[in-house]
Amino acid sequence: MTATAPGKIILVGEHAVVYGRPAIAAPVWQCVATATIRAAAPGAGCTLHAQDTGQQLRLDEGSVEEPLLLVARLALAQLGLDRPDWQIDLHSDIPMASGLGSGAALSTALVRAIFRQAGSEVDPATLSALVYESERFYHGTPSGIDNTVVAYGQPIWFVKDAAFQPVHPGCALTLVIADSGVRSPTKETVGDVRTAWLRDPARYEAIFDAIGETVVQARLAMERGDLPGLGVLLDANQGWLEELAVSSVLLRRLIDVARAAGALGAKLSGGGRGGNVIALVEPAAVDPVCAALRAAGAARVLVTQIE
Ligand code: PMV
Repeated sequence: MTATAPGKIILVGEHAVVYGRPAIAAPVWQCVATATIRAAAPGAGCTLHAQDTGQQLRLDEGSVEEPLLLVARLALAQLGLDRPDWQIDLHSDIPMASGLGSGAALSTALVRAIFRQAGSEVDPATLSALVYESERFYHGTPSGIDNTVVAYGQPIWFVKDAAFQPVHPGCALTLVIADSGVRSPTKETVGDVRTAWLRDPARYEAIFDAIGETVVQARLAMERGDLPGLGVLLDANQGWLEELAVSSVLLRRLIDVARAAGALGAKLSGGGRGGNVIALVEPAAVDPVCAALRAAGAARVLVTQIE
């Protein structure tokens, strides 16, 4: 039995979303995680092989601090299954620790495959709640945006602890996604923002408010199909992320290169300090923006559409 789950980008609102402000995220189907389950010999137990990290895990051994083991055990418990004889293989072409939601996608594919192997289909709400538990290990204090966008597989307006809303762009958005090649665990940037916020809550609350307002405006621009307006808002969001000290010289360079090559706006996406930048482009600018980002040293460049 095989199941897949997409990567994701945060269009606007990362970090502030941890503090109750809205954010917009969308799935990225150009990179996916895949889980495949095969029956193993009777009595063999359940083993999980994460191909990309080389991890071989046994479900009946190991710490629940391992996110994939945790989520697999939770899914099996929901199904009332106790240690089935299964061989689970996990693979992902979503780069790790780069803001594309690789952890959430692996957990989502895993839970989906476990339910399918047991003869049922997991509903997205249950799926999202299970994946959230694994996100807590990757992220510390996750807002829940990654598990929601990946489990539901559609563009969302997200506010922590509230029901998400689907977002419908007035016209298709074309985004170039460029990987800086620098891995940066979200837990660290989220932790650093928290430390700074605790030191100076008034300053950081004001930045979160400004990001929240940018997200409100971005949704309106998106729904109107106002691409230039949305581009300006992506740039503004990047400015606030720099104030939060989660950008980097390299990310900034990739953003400048994308803008100079014709992007309507660009920003980092996800935890920051490394990982991916996203650039909003008109279809005619896709090739020059991709070429400029590759020439500037981007490790990988993808093009996706939000519709
Ligand atoms: O998983 P990432 O790197 O895309 O980051 C998620 C977005 C944050 O707002 C930085 C964290 C969160 O939990 O919302």
